[in-house]
Amino acid sequence: MPRILSGVQPTGQLHLGNYCGAIRQFLDLQAEGHQVFVFVASYHALTSLHDAVALRASIRQVVVDYLAFGLDPARTAIYLQQDVPEVTELAWLLGCVCPFPWMEKMTTYKDKTAKGLEANIGLFTYPILQAADILAVQSDIVPVGRDQVQHIEITRDLAQRFNREFNAEVFRLPGLRLAPHAELLPGIDGEKMSKSYGNTIDPFAPEKELKTRIMSIKTDSKGVDVAKDPDNCTVYRIFRALAGPGDPRTVELASRYRDPSRQPGGKGFGYGHAKLALLELVLDHFAAARKRRAELLADPGQVESVLKAGAQSARSLAQATVAAARQATGL
Ligand code: TYM
Repeated sequence: MPRILSGVQPTGQLHLGNYCGAIRQFLDLQAEGHQVFVFVASYHALTSLHDAVALRASIRQVVVDYLAFGLDPARTAIYLQQDVPEVTELAWLLGCVCPFPWMEKMTTYKDKTAKGLEANIGLFTYPILQAADILAVQSDIVPVGRDQVQHIEITRDLAQRFNREFNAEVFRLPGLRLAPHAELLPGIDGEKMSKSYGNTIDPFAPEKELKTRIMSIKTDSKGVDVAKDPDNCTVYRIFRALAGPGDPRTVELASRYRDPSRQPGGKGFGYGHAKLALLELVLDHFAAARKRRAELLADPGQVESVLKAGAQSARSLAQATVAAARQATGL
């Protein structure tokens, strides 16, 4: 049975992009009975978030949201990165076989410096730490969104290079898994949905807030009687990602875009109608998760025991991996 690992940075509220790109895959893999490890990438968040109160709150929030979305601690190990400190030692060992130019070409670093923002050493070596997360538990498959592909490729390269350099089969080479029909989910401004762009949709927002957010999705100004191209519309693209391209509701929505006179009542079909359909879909899709989250927030004790058990299972694997890696290097 393949082993699965993935994680999310605690740098703010999880959003529909995280869900469609990554978290839904965790749920599917969990349901298929795989051995799943899902963690909170708290060390990674430190490359950009320097506010202890905000980080602490965000870490907790991610765990609560994981559970609310349906990750089940009886089947999936859920843990915090800082509770498996072996990954930082492993990152050092991997860093010592990583050529400097490999990191210079990584988009996380290049994008930030291209915008004139200051990059710290943590951000520069971020992909090595990510490789350590994956290799520490000897994960076979890493389910992620499309923006993480380069990170998984470099993980394979680092694993291979370490094995070759020290002439030992210490690491398994992981593969990646993208969500079916994976495109990067756009945010309300049409750019990639991202915490750092402030364009996200929070599936747990109160209904009124959610409605305001969805109604503010940017569209062109075609009127209700004009035929529209669904594939070029952010509202439709989000709808399709969440409901699935083959879902009858998606097919119906696309046909209304193309032929607005089909709208019941014959009053045409505009972006406002599409946005209301998306609101209804989000509320329907996350109804159980929203309810579970309210219950979890009322019982914070649950979270601690989940994290303790999760860290124990990840840590025992990480300790074995680090011991093998130390041995191979001569330490
Ligand atoms: P992060 O926190 O940026 O995102 C978490 C997951 O959500 C996916 N994602 C998206 N998918 C589709 N459309 C979007 N707009 C969108 N935005 C985010 C991401 O692809 C990701 O799968 N480096 C990682 C965290 C990490 C990690 C790891 C992941 C650290 N160590 C080991 C896997 C394995 C990150 O910053 O994800």
